[in-house]
Amino acid sequence: MTDQPTEGQPAADDESAVSGAESVEPAESPLETGQPSQQAAAEGEAAAPAAASASVAATPPPAAPAARPAGPVDPPYVAAAKSRKRVPLWAVPIFPLLLIWALVYVNAMTPVSNNNTPLAQGGALYAKNCSTCHGSTGGGGSGPAFNGGAVIKTFPKWEDQVKWVDLGSANWPTSTYGATHKPVGAGGMPGFGPDGQASLTCDEILLVVHYERVTLGGLVASSPDDMDLEKQATAIAAGQTATQTACPVKK
Ligand code: HEC
Repeated sequence: MTDQPTEGQPAADDESAVSGAESVEPAESPLETGQPSQQAAAEGEAAAPAAASASVAATPPPAAPAARPAGPVDPPYVAAAKSRKRVPLWAVPIFPLLLIWALVYVNAMTPVSNNNTPLAQGGALYAKNCSTCHGSTGGGGSGPAFNGGAVIKTFPKWEDQVKWVDLGSANWPTSTYGATHKPVGAGGMPGFGPDGQASLTCDEILLVVHYERVTLGGLVASSPDDMDLEKQATAIAAGQTATQTACPVKK
């Protein structure tokens, strides 16, 4: 189309086109005649502005359809995105559920749960109520020591130990106590349970007795009676109802 207005040049173009033998010329001619042809093009545009504008106005419509066919063809990255497998819809609720699971998992892993073990609870009760007289590690003080199995020697059965802590030496009905018939001191130990000053419940007494026997007394639960204590302490620590019958003494 642009060839049409440049009337002066076509001779050279036609010549090179016709004389195919001189194949070098066509390549060189655009370089040499670059300026003239531009001039000619400029002249042509300037000479016939009306025609040019008319042709320009007429050209876009044909040009547009020529460009359009390339438009709908997606670039490779768009085509890749369209053909890529999408995340299935059912996976959408999985992500918030994963988050909840992670929180529950982390929470379950924290050592806070250790405070709920029977020995942890019994140890806390012992430190608060008993350690002043019996020593923080059960080594004894104004009250006797529990270490080295001493407390188990006095009370082979844990139920009798529970009764002792419930009543205390102040409310003990006889002059001696335990399997070795130890003499009861003159009100040396207060009764902690419902039969004494009631500062502890029967369940709490069971937990502290369990702690005294296992952690301080070094008891390795093996007899059915000891296994029963273990079972009941675990139940109490888990917030369940114990089935102990030793406390309270007076029903
Ligand atoms: C005010 C001091 C005092 C406190 C507090 C105290 N006790 Fe005692 N405990 C004694 C004395 C003293 C004896 C020895 C018996 C007596 O003289 O009455 C004793 C004896 C015992 C015995 C018998 C041990 C043996 O082998 O002779 C046990 C078991 C016991 N106490 C458990 C406890 C528990 C459990 C607590 C806390 C809930 C506790 N005591 C708090 C002073 C105390």
